Amino acid sequence: MTDRITMVKPDDWHLHVRDGEMLRSVMGFTARHFGRAIIMPNLVPPVTTIAHGLAYRSRVLAAVPEGSDFQPLMTCYLTDETDADEVARGFAEGVFTAVKLYPVGATTNSAHGVTDFEKIRPVLARMEKIGMRLLIHGEEAADASVDVFDREAVFIEKRLEPMTRDYPGLRMVLEHLSSKIGVDYVRAKAPQLGGTITPYHMELNRNHMLASGIRPYFYCMPILKREGDRMAVAQAAISGEACFFLGTDSAPHPVAAKLAVCGCAGLFNAPVAIETYAKLFDEAGALDKLEAFAALNGPAHYGLAPNAGTITLERADWIAPEEVAIPGPEQRAIVYRGGETIQWRVVAG
Ligand code: DOR
Ligand code: ZN
Repeated sequence: MTDRITMVKPDDWHLHVRDGEMLRSVMGFTARHFGRAIIMPNLVPPVTTIAHGLAYRSRVLAAVPEGSDFQPLMTCYLTDETDADEVARGFAEGVFTAVKLYPVGATTNSAHGVTDFEKIRPVLARMEKIGMRLLIHGEEAADASVDVFDREAVFIEKRLEPMTRDYPGLRMVLEHLSSKIGVDYVRAKAPQLGGTITPYHMELNRNHMLASGIRPYFYCMPILKREGDRMAVAQAAISGEACFFLGTDSAPHPVAAKLAVCGCAGLFNAPVAIETYAKLFDEAGALDKLEAFAALNGPAHYGLAPNAGTITLERADWIAPEEVAIPGPEQRAIVYRGGETIQWRVVAG
């Protein structure tokens, strides 16, 4: 049995750190173990311009604990009005690593998302030309007749398939894969398409959320699906295939927003993220594939070098904190697997 692994320092290719006190309270959990993270732009208001991106990056960097060389990779929130020149300039100047596409209404703070896919054509064409990545929340949400459990499949058929044909040179990421259909589609379209996988879509199905009491902390978008979907997602992650890589989608919310009459989607997993992936790979007998998933496949999809440093994990029990205190009115954010025994611990890096 392997009790200790050292690997290239991982990156998180999908992360929400919010702003203000929440940002200051959560940033350290990612910065302590990850070399880089793609920072999601769904603030209120969203990060839609170079000026917003620069200002937000400064606030993120200010929240990174001293001594850490963590690097935030910023993204631009795509709207119907996004200007291709602004996006291209942001990319050329190193402000934006990628553009994020939220279909309107698909998830938290997606109210400014894309309503008309015709309008974003000039931006996508320019991104294809300059080699900029498009990150996709792949769910069809505007049409209320689409069942919430089918949103990923419908988006792939209706939106993504035409995009892969119209922009063959555009490198895309289908984020937070949640279904067998999604996993199979990424596989079929690699390397044009890559896919990120969260720890909780590997670990949970919808029964965990609904079958023995309703667990609002497991509510996320894309929503947890059937056991067959979970198995396909977990299998993809541990396969080591180059098109699948780590993206936690850690998405902290104040406890009151999670437990409201209309609660919001998102799981805060940064405090236990790399340890949870290690546990899941270990249980599947695939610890030897963790480095590819966590540290190599992502940079390759982005055309970046892997991190120079390493990280070491050891098999050792510790108890995850149940919550993280947030100064001010937001009070606290509940931690994924909080209170549980976490079987792996980062001991160096
Ligand atoms: O569950 C989710 N929460 N899914 C997303 O796509 C967004 C995220 C958030 O921002 O809270
Ligand atoms: Zn997200």
